[in-house]
Amino acid sequence: MNLENIPNHVAIILDGNGRWATNRGLNRSEGHKAGLDRLKNLSDYIIKRGVKILSVFAFSTENFKRDKKEVDYLMHLFAGGLKDSIKFFSNKNIKVIISGRRINLPKNVIKTIDVLQEKTENNTAGILNICLNYGGKAEIVDTARKIAYLVQNKELTVDEIDEELFSKNLYNDLPPVDLMIRTGGELRISNFMIYECAYAEFYFTNTYFPDFDELEFEKALDSFNERNRKFGGLK
Ligand code: FPP
Repeated sequence: MNLENIPNHVAIILDGNGRWATNRGLNRSEGHKAGLDRLKNLSDYIIKRGVKILSVFAFSTENFKRDKKEVDYLMHLFAGGLKDSIKFFSNKNIKVIISGRRINLPKNVIKTIDVLQEKTENNTAGILNICLNYGGKAEIVDTARKIAYLVQNKELTVDEIDEELFSKNLYNDLPPVDLMIRTGGELRISNFMIYECAYAEFYFTNTYFPDFDELEFEKALDSFNERNRKFGGLK
């Protein structure tokens, strides 16, 4: 009997692209390019493995503080690299959605993400949620504002606000994260999906993201399967 438990929603903090490149004598941009290639194949594998939603942290609201050259390259990757990936995700039947603030993103990036979402919206194998110009605190603040406007417009009463309604009004109406993975050796959440991770299991690995392959993901799954999830109760 197969007792394997597959998490419904997996989130990954894609860390270590820069160090992966530096260790090979390459520039950091090449690490990000390798990260995109890894992300494509890995998302296909993870969804084929039965995970319904994969959320990835591609660019935080704080990442704008990085060197301009690196930010420019990442924006170039989000506009061009993602555009070139539309066919890939369509062939794999993966629906791509984007979470984050559109403000501050260059026009060509906005165009690409709009097309990517539109072209993949009817795909049914699973969802890849790419978090771009994303911050967990920013998401909570934006959601509070959205709800406040609904109350102001009398579409909602204050008493109707509960955890379920709040969750439905986050950037995307997604189920909670079951397994949060961080590559690259740091042991922190870095403002990623802090509302959605309330009861997530955490898995940290020293492996840099471009090296985080199918075998590495299986190790994370094995670890998830060893956990006893109690959700605050007794078990
Ligand atoms: C963290 O590595 C990674 C990022 C800030 C960018 C993540 C982007 C990708 C994986 C590119 C592909 C994604 C999409 C959606 C096109 P780091 O630069 O912090 O690495 P370091 O900690 O080794 O310096």
